[in-house]
Amino acid sequence: MSKLRVAVVGVGHLGQHHARIAGSAPDAVLVAVVDPDPVRGPEIAAKVGAPWAATLAEVLDQVDAVQIAAPTGFHLALGLQALKAGKHLLMEKPLAASLEEGKALLAGLAEARVAKPGLVAQVGHLERFNPAVTALRERGFKPRFLEAVRVSPFPARSLEVDVVMDVMIHDLDLLRALVGRPVIDVEAVGVPVLTPFADLVNARLKFEGGAFATVTASRVARKKERTLRAFGDKEYASLDFATQKLELLRLVMGPEGPQVHPETADIEEGEPLRLEIEAFHAACLGTGTDGVTWEEGQEAMHVADLVQKAVAKSLAEINQG
Ligand SMILES: NC(=O)c1ccc[n+]([C@@H]2O[C@H](COP(=O)([O-])OP(=O)(O)OC[C@H]3O[C@@H](n4cnc5c(N)ncnc54)[C@H](O)[C@@H]3O)[C@@H](O)[C@H]2O)c1
Repeated sequence: MSKLRVAVVGVGHLGQHHARIAGSAPDAVLVAVVDPDPVRGPEIAAKVGAPWAATLAEVLDQVDAVQIAAPTGFHLALGLQALKAGKHLLMEKPLAASLEEGKALLAGLAEARVAKPGLVAQVGHLERFNPAVTALRERGFKPRFLEAVRVSPFPARSLEVDVVMDVMIHDLDLLRALVGRPVIDVEAVGVPVLTPFADLVNARLKFEGGAFATVTASRVARKKERTLRAFGDKEYASLDFATQKLELLRLVMGPEGPQVHPETADIEEGEPLRLEIEAFHAACLGTGTDGVTWEEGQEAMHVADLVQKAVAKSLAEINQG
């Protein structure tokens, strides 16, 4: 089988890792590293041993698939350009800069699929590929209440958006996928601390069917923490995204009555971004089906939008008080 020909577009903080992984992926060949920055582009291209191009247009006819890790404001234009050329696409999260731009991408995808029905379009919600998350999902865990925390010290980057679109969106996507039902109600509070946007947000989500979740995201914490606790019927789970550890506790009947039985899942560690990119390549080559669809990416944006609106309402109340 011939290898998938790939270009990585945007090789900044995250895109450099897309290039590293695509350059060493078993089923792909990295045809080009695309970045308009005349210093950064050639530097990363040399590191991964691929040619550099300043624009996507220069390499589009040489590739089958495009991985876009340019700033979110460029997702729409770059995505439509690749779709018009009939290329498979892995778009970094969030899918687009706004719900309207996300809709425009989905419309472009529908149009491109008329000519090429098998076109693959995925979003980089990489926590779905975290081996601890995979282990939890494989156990068929049915959560009724979830608690997600994703906090870190001030990053001094991605400051043009609030913490919801930059950070919380990972959990908004994941929680929806774990519950398997849509979010029907959102309450949220948030405050700007070091930027004009909300740097610290706490949201409460209610899902169709009655499950609910609280989600906290902050970029003004003393220490990094990325954790999830999920509570089901006679079982609960504690997951650490960074260490890829999953602990499950179940109520079992012992000789002396009911007991909580702890179990630490046996997990083979893996780099979520590599697992995500290799799954994308497999989907493009028709050898796999895993990956987060653009429809799911847009759904996560929709929930993020509801959280942002609720935060704006709570801020207006604070300012009035
Ligand atoms: N999945 C994750 O966990 C995760 C983490 C970080 C960032 N991201 C996403 O990745 C994207 C990039 O974020 P970043 O932090 O790497 O940004 P960055 O600013 O560090 O890098 C962006 C790069 O894109 C280049 N670029 C700008 N315009 C371009 C264009 N038109 N075509 C090609 N390249 C262009 C820039 O020169 C720069 O090198 C964003 O959408 C962000 O939300 C996702």
